[in-house]
Amino acid sequence: MQGLQGEAAAAAAELGDVRLPDDIQVIELAGRGSRALTFKAVYQAELVALKIYRPEVAERYRSKHDLNIAVYEMSQNRKFRRNDELFPFSAKPIMVHGHDGQVSLSFIQEFIEGRKLHRLAEEEGGVPFSVLEAGEIIARAGTEAGLPELDLDYRNVLVRRMAGKWIPVIHDFNHVQGVRGGGLGGLFSAKAKTNLQMVKEWSRHAGEPGER
Ligand SMILES: Nc1ncnc2c1ncn2[C@@H]1O[C@H](COP(=O)(O)OP(=O)(O)OP(=O)(O)O)[C@@H](O)[C@H]1O
Ligand SMILES: [Mg+2]
Repeated sequence: MQGLQGEAAAAAAELGDVRLPDDIQVIELAGRGSRALTFKAVYQAELVALKIYRPEVAERYRSKHDLNIAVYEMSQNRKFRRNDELFPFSAKPIMVHGHDGQVSLSFIQEFIEGRKLHRLAEEEGGVPFSVLEAGEIIARAGTEAGLPELDLDYRNVLVRRMAGKWIPVIHDFNHVQGVRGGGLGGLFSAKAKTNLQMVKEWSRHAGEPGER
């Protein structure tokens, strides 16, 4: 990745030797996650989120779960978006690159022009009712759609204004269903949280400082 400056260049360096297809232009860093760094980019004349996975995390998914993290995330994203009730709260999945090893492993998704849930709550003095109402739909319909353990951590929720209302959008789909707190380590770690438990935490953490 060449021609980047400041924060985006430093972030790219964290990923090591990043190679991208020629038709992707990176604009800036959008956010840091534990599994990926996400950049705002242009792909086929569309503004997109380019999620480039940390190589060590991609390797862990391969060896531990026999999964390609990018392909897995795109398929979970599709499963979520295919559901009529969940569609309005989903980022559009677009493309995976790098499963051939020629370029870095990445997932391209619709770029959400939104605010982080906890930042919005800080300013509004709480989580808007429309967001909590949508959260309940996401929790229930997600479970019905075969996604009972979505990673609905409040830091993974972006909120955007649509038709005069604040609407949450779910964009992070790489949590492997059925293994949170599982395995031997799971004996000592927190039990799996259901979608509804995660949504109930939205209000509790709202306005907390700290990025992720
Ligand atoms: N589609 C998107 N549109 C806009 N910003 C995004 C998008 N996807 C991710 N981001 C930003 O990038 C950050 C990191 O992305 P994401 O949460 O998907 O990474 P992750 O490594 O899977 O996260 P985690 O640490 O929760 O596993 C997000 O918190 C958000 O700020
Ligand atoms: Mg995240």
